[in-house]
Amino acid sequence: FIAKGKKYWGTATDIGLLLNNTVNEAIVRSQSFLIIHKLTPENSMKWDIIEKTRYAFNFIDSDYLVDYARSTGKLVRGHTFIWHSQLPSWVSAIKDAATLTEVIENHISSVGTRYSGRVYSWDVCNELFTAEGTMRYSVFYSVLGETFVSLAFNAVRKYDQTAKLYINDYNMVSNATQRFLSMINHVKTWISSGVPIDGIGTQAHLSAGVAGDVQAALSALAGSGVSEVAITELDIVQASPSDYVTVTKACLAVSACVGITNWGVSDKESWRTQDKPLLFDNYYRPKPAYEAIIAAL
Ligand code: XIL
Repeated sequence: FIAKGKKYWGTATDIGLLLNNTVNEAIVRSQSFLIIHKLTPENSMKWDIIEKTRYAFNFIDSDYLVDYARSTGKLVRGHTFIWHSQLPSWVSAIKDAATLTEVIENHISSVGTRYSGRVYSWDVCNELFTAEGTMRYSVFYSVLGETFVSLAFNAVRKYDQTAKLYINDYNMVSNATQRFLSMINHVKTWISSGVPIDGIGTQAHLSAGVAGDVQAALSALAGSGVSEVAITELDIVQASPSDYVTVTKACLAVSACVGITNWGVSDKESWRTQDKPLLFDNYYRPKPAYEAIIAAL
């Protein structure tokens, strides 16, 4: 894949699946599997893991992931700074703007400085929009209003000058939905007011049969003024070969699309395990969708 226009294929993973699961780790490491050139920590960089208690940072799991990526020659997508979910209750309980601003700055400076130069990109903000196209309720939005977005992006840029800074969201496939339009409009406005947004990520936790919309969606997202777009958390209910091939070709066809990340390797460990949405089955055997992607490249 990387040879086809220098795009990456990646996977979400973390210390448990690398250190304690040798079969899984061999697939992640392998340079023959679609070439996994990029890793996203599935959970280890989320706020409730990395700073569960105020000012007490725990970098054990995230360091493992970043060090593993370095020693195996892979990129890292940092995931994620500002998200309403997997957020510790001490953050959610903050009521005043000055405290929340300081807490965001401190969190981003601590994590951003530690991994500066070692991550390819950061999902600075994750899942900001509702299906109706409004900004989702969160402590960030309720205490700071929309200004938390520029605060967060500027803070990450301050502590990491090289990472590509992303806004990431789900259900970004049909480009007629309110969430999709709101993303495009907000990103245009934020970029024109100087917020350093480099990329939009579309998670792509897809249902079956919608892959045909992905290429148009990627093009529309790229048209918002960002320099790149990415498919950041791909999994597809029942993993039909044609759906996977369609999504893969969509990224190849859109020059701004830098790569695809699958949200895990094996169906066994997928967060949607009952949907069997990944490229390897419960016994780590490649599935028809995997073979179909290889054949299509
Ligand atoms: C999921 C992880 O896969 C699970 O292990 C965890 O329990 C919950 O979060 N959108 C995101 C990801 O941005 O971080 C989520 O990952 C899936 C939805």
